[in-house]
Amino acid sequence: MEADETPKSKTPLRRRADQIKLHRCKNLIAVLENPSDIRNIGTVIRNVNALGVEKAYVVDPHGRLPDEWQDMRDRKSLTKTSASAVQWSFVKRFDSTEACLAHLRRNRYVSIVTSPHMKGKTNVVLHEANYTVPTRLAVWFGSESSGISDLAVSEAEFCVNIPMYGIIESLNLGTTTGIVLYEIAKQRRAYQERYKRSRNRWKEPASQPVAKSRSRST
Ligand SMILES: C[S@@+](CC[C@H](N)C(=O)[O-])C[C@H]1O[C@@H](n2cnc3c(N)ncnc32)[C@H](O)[C@@H]1O
Repeated sequence: MEADETPKSKTPLRRRADQIKLHRCKNLIAVLENPSDIRNIGTVIRNVNALGVEKAYVVDPHGRLPDEWQDMRDRKSLTKTSASAVQWSFVKRFDSTEACLAHLRRNRYVSIVTSPHMKGKTNVVLHEANYTVPTRLAVWFGSESSGISDLAVSEAEFCVNIPMYGIIESLNLGTTTGIVLYEIAKQRRAYQERYKRSRNRWKEPASQPVAKSRSRST
């Protein structure tokens, strides 16, 4: 059986989930800091799922979400707003920014933040940065009203800006996560594929010399 083939006994959705697993961006997490609107949380989970981001973390100090992913999957508001993506993409909630940063640090994730404004020491335009260098990357998005917190900025490697050419100060969360995660996932997926191909090439000589030397001696 080919790597992306799955047994016919599985449901079509399960089969599709198994197939796309190969293309998911490993070690890439989208972090939502203190979002206030459940519809935005659902939209972001949908983007996370559709763009092949591995997980979503939500800093949720007001307890809008249940503690466990299993309970989120049963929450109608999330299932509806995420178009059922919450069933398939892992979501973890944290009580505070500190708790989320500590968890990411423990697991050796590098954080970057996003903002329509210049934040912290280093600011980059979305499409001009390289997102393949950190093996584990967490991309933070701020709240609808106050944006990204100073604490998250202080722990981030850099801040990503989508250039704004209109009168409006910022994009909404759904649009921003779609644009930013598309660029980052595109770069990391291409890198992942190249790495996989070069590893496969590297493996070939191990089995080939035996065959080659045999053909030479016969
Ligand atoms: C509605 S905006 C928050 C606006 C808020 N007044 C502020 O000062 O950031 C919600 C989040 O979307 C992201 N965002 C919105 N527009 C962005 C842009 N042009 N570039 C990068 N991130 C953006 C940021 O993560 C921001 O915290």
